[in-house]
Amino acid sequence: MRVLLQRISAKRNLYDCKIRVNEKEIYKAMGEIRLIKPAIEYDDDIMMFRKEILETNGPDSFAGCYSLKLCETADKWVERCVAMENIETCPENFVTSTTYMAVRTSDNRVVGIIELRHHINHPILGTWGGHIGYSVRPSERGNGYAKEMLRLCLQRCKERSMDKVMVTCSTENAASEKTILANGGIFEKTVPGDGEVMKRYWITL
Ligand SMILES: CC(C)(COP(=O)(O)OP(=O)(O)OC[C@H]1O[C@@H](n2cnc3c(N)ncnc32)[C@H](O)[C@@H]1OP(=O)(O)O)[C@@H](O)C(=O)NCCC(=O)NCCS
Repeated sequence: MRVLLQRISAKRNLYDCKIRVNEKEIYKAMGEIRLIKPAIEYDDDIMMFRKEILETNGPDSFAGCYSLKLCETADKWVERCVAMENIETCPENFVTSTTYMAVRTSDNRVVGIIELRHHINHPILGTWGGHIGYSVRPSERGNGYAKEMLRLCLQRCKERSMDKVMVTCSTENAASEKTILANGGIFEKTVPGDGEVMKRYWITL
């Protein structure tokens, strides 16, 4: 019996070790990121991020950071994100939300922005907008950052005691759909939204 238990334990250690190695390899390839709240120390990079998205101007640009399009200075955007967090300061007809910047540890570069809406009891969010929106900096796309940003954001959802979240994407947005699927999204249905057909996915936490 003891030998059997030792064997199981050895196998488990090997398995854990493999997972750690794989995580390390993933991070080595794309660079480790962390989610942090918008902060004025990043003002230059925030504005570079905004400029890149404006220049790319693709579909769904500024998803999860639409207010950055409207704010012409980083301090205005940081102020807006702070205001969005509390019901007392959140603009009327908006749902409170928390915005995070995905910052790469190795060089402190903002590679993405992700917004977590605190609930979706709202005509747009509850039909096709969903709980979470995100954008990756155009020059950093295709490196796995969206998948990792969503994974980290789901941890924040758990910390808020949310038990499931709706994440949506346009039927034309293959990259976003794969990001949702990679994080356990279960397809529910398509709905019209924003002049497109949107796919609704649910992720159980
Ligand atoms: C959608 C978006 C966030 C994806 O970001 P990203 O960092 O490039 O995504 P990732 O590198 O994590 O890749 C996620 C998956 O999409 C795939 N993918 C990436 N770019 C792709 C593309 N242009 N076409 C098809 N698949 C693509 C990746 O291969 C990966 O799939 P895999 O797990 O099978 O390998 C990014 O393109 C973006 O910011 N677009 C504009 C804003 C937006 O559309 N937000 C989502 C709104 S719903």
